[in-house]
Amino acid sequence: MSLGGQPEADDSLAEVLIAHSPNGIIMTTPDGRIAVINPAVHTLLPIVPGAIGRLPIQAIPVDRLAEALSPKLDEEIEFSLQSGHRTLLVKVVSLQGGRLAILQDVTLFAQAENHRREFVANVSHELRTPATSIAGYAETLLDEPGDMDGFTLEMVTVIHRNAQRLISLFDDLLHLSRIDAKEVELEITGLNLQSVIHEAFDKGRARADEKKILLQSYVDERFMVQSNRDALGHIFGNLVENAIKYSQEGGMVSVRASNRDGGRVLVEVIDVGYGIDPSLHARIFERFYRVDKGRARAAGGTGLGLAIVKRLCHEVGASIDVKSKLGKGSIFRVLLPGAGDRAKVIRPNP
Ligand SMILES: Nc1ncnc2c1ncn2[C@@H]1O[C@H](COP(=O)(O)OP(=O)(O)OP(=O)(O)O)[C@@H](O)[C@H]1O
Ligand SMILES: [Mg+2]
Repeated sequence: MSLGGQPEADDSLAEVLIAHSPNGIIMTTPDGRIAVINPAVHTLLPIVPGAIGRLPIQAIPVDRLAEALSPKLDEEIEFSLQSGHRTLLVKVVSLQGGRLAILQDVTLFAQAENHRREFVANVSHELRTPATSIAGYAETLLDEPGDMDGFTLEMVTVIHRNAQRLISLFDDLLHLSRIDAKEVELEITGLNLQSVIHEAFDKGRARADEKKILLQSYVDERFMVQSNRDALGHIFGNLVENAIKYSQEGGMVSVRASNRDGGRVLVEVIDVGYGIDPSLHARIFERFYRVDKGRARAAGGTGLGLAIVKRLCHEVGASIDVKSKLGKGSIFRVLLPGAGDRAKVIRPNP
């Protein structure tokens, strides 16, 4: 094959594509030796000269990639890696008994993502300060409600409520950009699930009492999970808050947990409230998406809660889905990983 040169008449289409692809391509034989390295690879990674015929571990300076090229593996592996100033997305699959790695340069994309994240974080941070000041002054005025006539009191109450909403919106945006930047330290420890759920109930209790909603936990007091406390606190705090927010007066919100295969734990947050049309189930996890904008706004929602929940689930290796029918209620199901899953997930980057 005339890799890198002009296409020749007897070159197959595959050979021409491999030679001229902007993506790096490495192939190994069934006995695990390097059979193909296209020119793009050399622009992306410092490969040892004369690599053809050698074992990946002898020629490729990234252990993770060399290991993924082992013919003993069969699964599809995807990860990103930093090579000098470049960010590479690597995908390795099995092909004809050997392995095939495709390396894509995603540096520009990663930089644009970083800029976007920093911009959102900076703007949120800057806007939070004046919003805090407005909320603070409104609160001071509300401390002496007798000093105001009815109309003024109403206006100051609205100013206060909306300033608080702005603050929680900026906090959510800051939280999301921190998770995106992987600044959030995820220490995994043994946790008592019941205490996490009770904390979530405590946060929602005032609202639940107002609406006469019963909070019921069916989680056994000895139920332990291995996960990150802050992440789980946030996940179940948000799900319980939603379950209360999107339920009629006199409803019930319950949480139950069960053991699944491989040490996994399924936790379900169940309400008998408004429910969500099945066609919208995927959309509610998007940033800023609210099903019924009027009702969600009246309930003080910005549509970031479930986006944060989904992102945090991803960080702790959990999956989340929803079963719900309009008018019947909803079940949000979080499947926490077992020990075997946890070894594979959490930090895809080396
Ligand atoms: N348990 C539920 N029952 C019915 N609808 C729900 C439930 N949970 C979420 N939703 C719908 O999904 C939308 C998105 O939820 P999400 O938590 O992301 O945002 P929010 O509650 O509107 O605002 P935020 O959580 O940021 O304060 C909500 O606006 C609501 O329409
Ligand atoms: Mg919410």
